[in-house]
Amino acid sequence: MQQPIAILDSGVGGLTVVKEVMRQLPREKIIYFGDTARTPYGPRSAEEVQAFTREIVDYLIQFQPKMIVIACNTATAVALSDIRSRVAIPVVGVINPGARAAIGRTTTGCIGVIGTVGTIKSGAYENALRELSPHVQVISEACPNFVPLVEKGNFRSDETYDVVRASIAHLRQHPMDTLILGCTHYPFLTETISEVMGSEVALISSADETAREISTILHDKRKLAKNDQIPVHQFFCSGDPYMFKQIAQQWLGEQIDLTPVVWQVPNIS
Ligand code: DGL
Repeated sequence: MQQPIAILDSGVGGLTVVKEVMRQLPREKIIYFGDTARTPYGPRSAEEVQAFTREIVDYLIQFQPKMIVIACNTATAVALSDIRSRVAIPVVGVINPGARAAIGRTTTGCIGVIGTVGTIKSGAYENALRELSPHVQVISEACPNFVPLVEKGNFRSDETYDVVRASIAHLRQHPMDTLILGCTHYPFLTETISEVMGSEVALISSADETAREISTILHDKRKLAKNDQIPVHQFFCSGDPYMFKQIAQQWLGEQIDLTPVVWQVPNIS
């Protein structure tokens, strides 16, 4: 049996990481969980996000993954070390890869970060950036209205443009050459964000660098898949399967095998 890579998020956001893993590691089988019944995670307490992340990991462990990827910045910020202490396989988050990519890109040392309320409040990006480069200047802004737009598949409407413009108006007053999309949902809005920020600001998504980190770990552990058949990925979501499937197939450019999951635990609020 081929051991899969397990990837999770509060919803469709982690698919931005899935797409990059498929591109960089086409032999690897992926199992993906989107907790669409309880999205968004951004406004929730750290304890709640930790509890939800544990539940998803407990669910995914039945597939005997060789690695877990927390493709959600909010969950990475508050649950990465907790999950690492609970499982015996490598667990990768998206914040350090995003910070590394931004440091690699900036020339002025002025970096903006947008993310959910939970991620921005945690200060995780600022810490990760300063650990790499102590003199970097970081300006952060929470954009709580982005995730609901993405979960509805509303990527390019007038409403989206207005929400993006209003949410990042404050950031635009600060000089920066690099902006971290510190939520895995935000790459769905790349064109709109770029239009508002201007072409001189480079937008950084963690997906590319996260896939590279996955590749390096699997290589070092001699765990890279060696099969020659195309792997059959499996997707799970806890909420509306119709919307999830639509967005996933559009984003990934292929049909997906989706199983709706009904949580035993009534944690939905
Ligand atoms: N995509 C997630 C993140 O990167 C979660 C967004 C949310 O559910 O609020 O933070």
